[in-house]
Amino acid sequence: MVKVLASAPGKVTLFGEHAVVYGYPAIVTAINKRVYVEAELRNDNEIKINAQDLRVPGLIVSIGEGEVVVTTDYGRSLAAMSYLSKAIEVTSKFLNERKGVNLVVTSEMPVGAGLGTSAAVSVATIAAYATCLGHELSSEVIAQLGWQVEKEVQGIASPMDTTISALGGTLKLWYEGTTVHKTPLALSSELPLVISYVEREKTTKEMVAKVKELRNRHSELVDEIMKSIGFVTNKAEQALLKNDLSEVGLLMNVNHGLLDALGVSTRRLNELVYLARSSGALGSKLTGAGGGGATISLVQNSKAELVLNVLSMFSLMSFKAVINTEGVKVKVLAK
Ligand code: PMV
Repeated sequence: MVKVLASAPGKVTLFGEHAVVYGYPAIVTAINKRVYVEAELRNDNEIKINAQDLRVPGLIVSIGEGEVVVTTDYGRSLAAMSYLSKAIEVTSKFLNERKGVNLVVTSEMPVGAGLGTSAAVSVATIAAYATCLGHELSSEVIAQLGWQVEKEVQGIASPMDTTISALGGTLKLWYEGTTVHKTPLALSSELPLVISYVEREKTTKEMVAKVKELRNRHSELVDEIMKSIGFVTNKAEQALLKNDLSEVGLLMNVNHGLLDALGVSTRRLNELVYLARSSGALGSKLTGAGGGGATISLVQNSKAELVLNVLSMFSLMSFKAVINTEGVKVKVLAK
């Protein structure tokens, strides 16, 4: 039976989350934590999902070959399942073909932490399933289908997470209608980033809805904040290309302040951000939708150890990020 393994990376948003939903640019990069989806054709029409790694109640942290592997809590994994089944539905419709498959899903990232797991699950599932059915989809098409999955599950979503997960690298990205504009960003060197993660209190869908509600009540105010985030993102692009780390750090701090103004930060996230800064980080901000989840801190090498140790004490997990990684990958295991 045909068997395929696909994987797709998680991401961190360096600048511009939330504002990207309203058409402003964001800068986003793929990280070295991936979701793996193994798909094997069945003789019948059923879709069987085995997502043991996504099902364990509580947060399970294990260490193997120097890698920290985190599996997830029960509630979030159920949410991840809806991305899986929607990805199968959207791909079948696009290819006008449906066959049963067994899917085995594993994740190196905490699900729903703001690291783009749901997009990685969607992208890897689309790639694995389409390949099983004998179709080779381009990364661009996978990105488009992935965006459709996110929109259908979340109601409102930008193409940011699915595009970076499919294409990889680092992108400046914005969208108008259904057109996604993207510029690959050739960073002059790797950014020394630390990712930290605390318990998520709210889902992405809830946080996007919260911002929308605030915008309905105070449209001019919120639009000004969004515009400022867009301005910061454009400035950050220049600073990143010049490898001006102190400017990048400063702009990260400003971006965090604007996200806090939108009401998407939490006390725990603010604590992490301030701890990072007072331990010597050049800048620190929440990344992703907020309401708990992840922060990124820009740290020069001489301070990296100290910042990492401090953040490790106050978070569920902290690690040095490897960014700019490869997008979706597919391997045929059996024909
Ligand atoms: O928390 P994440 O990784 O799902 O990121 C969400 C990013 C938002 O800009 C808040 C929403 C979106 O669709 O772009």
